[in-house]
Amino acid sequence: MVKYQFPDNFWWGSAASGPQTEGKFEGDGKGQNVMDYWYDIEPEKFFNNVGPDNASRFYQTYKEDIQLMKETGHNSYRHSIQWSRLIPNGVGEVNQAAVDYYNDLINEMIANGIEPFMNLYHFDMPMPFQEKGGWLNRETVEAYVVYAQTCFELFGDRVKKWFTHNEPIVPVEAGYLYQFHYPNEINLKHAIQVGYHEMLASAMAVKVYHELKLDGQIGIILNLTPSYPRDENNPEDVKASIIADAMFNRSFLDPSVKGTFPTELVDIVKELDMMPEIKEGDLEIIQHNTIDLLGINYYQPRRVKAKETPINHEHGPMPEDYFDNYEMPGRKMNPHRGWEIYEKGIYDILTNVRENYGNIPCFISENGMGVEGEEKFRNAEGIIEDDYRIEFVSEHLKYVHQAIEEGTNCLGYHMWTCMDNWSWTNAYKNRYGFISVNLDKNWERSIKNSGRWFKQVSDNNGF
Ligand code: BG6
Repeated sequence: MVKYQFPDNFWWGSAASGPQTEGKFEGDGKGQNVMDYWYDIEPEKFFNNVGPDNASRFYQTYKEDIQLMKETGHNSYRHSIQWSRLIPNGVGEVNQAAVDYYNDLINEMIANGIEPFMNLYHFDMPMPFQEKGGWLNRETVEAYVVYAQTCFELFGDRVKKWFTHNEPIVPVEAGYLYQFHYPNEINLKHAIQVGYHEMLASAMAVKVYHELKLDGQIGIILNLTPSYPRDENNPEDVKASIIADAMFNRSFLDPSVKGTFPTELVDIVKELDMMPEIKEGDLEIIQHNTIDLLGINYYQPRRVKAKETPINHEHGPMPEDYFDNYEMPGRKMNPHRGWEIYEKGIYDILTNVRENYGNIPCFISENGMGVEGEEKFRNAEGIIEDDYRIEFVSEHLKYVHQAIEEGTNCLGYHMWTCMDNWSWTNAYKNRYGFISVNLDKNWERSIKNSGRWFKQVSDNNGF
């Protein structure tokens, strides 16, 4: 019996990115991006020294992989176009091999009843632009918009769901605050400029897309971390959570959906004398070119308390000058990834979007559980018994269902990810897929228990 019935035409599927799945090899014409470069110079930064050239070979096996998507109940799937594959130098000549590949990939998905959702940017800055500062440099914004238009013109007759960025806060945090990604700086002023340029680029791409009148929707994918105060009755804790929310969620959510930046954040940035370079007309572009569809990635909440520890001045101002992170006793953790599991967070985000963001059409664009050493769960028939993942997804889906019942305009659920893939500095450490990829057996794919379960969920449009 189906207890949690979802609306008709609900999108069931998963998400991945080009750089994490395709691999790079001789003769594909792809240009170098920042991850390829970083791996060349510092391979030891990547788990087990495994780099992006060892991504899960989707470029060669997409036809078979699409069949596996069907077998796991996908009616939609998000991939990302690699800027440096399509336009190897970032601007200028288009790589015909890439055009053929993306055309074939899109056509194959559609022929198999899987709607293609295409994202334009997933942390993969073409190296010629990274050398000039990447998102710090206004030239990157201009080049990105040309790239976006090229994609819309080439593939927009068939792709009806476009996304300007995946998690634009990640290049900000990872590259310019917390040193997870190249260029590994700690520089709040740069972080702010990078975030601003990403938002501007997004609005400019939305503008171009709408002007082309292609009969589809364009959105952005944001990773939202609902901010909870240690003590809801302590005004200082509540204030800390409001600031953390402005910094880590509303910084991208407000301009994307409302066309404005949160005043709490602007006040802080002004006070620090760290306003980004804004050209005349930019703010109008952001104001008038908001998205049609919001993708929400949810993994974990953020728990904060009023600042109690001394401010560390070593690297200049940092977001943590305004709050302390709070490790709530008894919280449920994913021991593999070190992230808290708090299922109700997904409901709180969806409710917030309904109440404060005009109930914009949205969907869960990523949610998932990374697990180390999944091979040990492989049974005698060769199937990985990832029942913890079924529990993780179903517990989140119950809250998605509740939010929909209460009126949230949530149109789908995509898990991260379809098949185990390479993930930035973590490489193959944490496995997330419905489908396992056996690195010891020539990247052999096999559907996990969760993939079988998801097929039933999709077939029943509920569980
Ligand atoms: C998401 C990203 O934030 O998290 C993905 O969009 C990433 O690109 C995923 O792979 C999981 O991250 P990790 O580091 O646990 O593999």
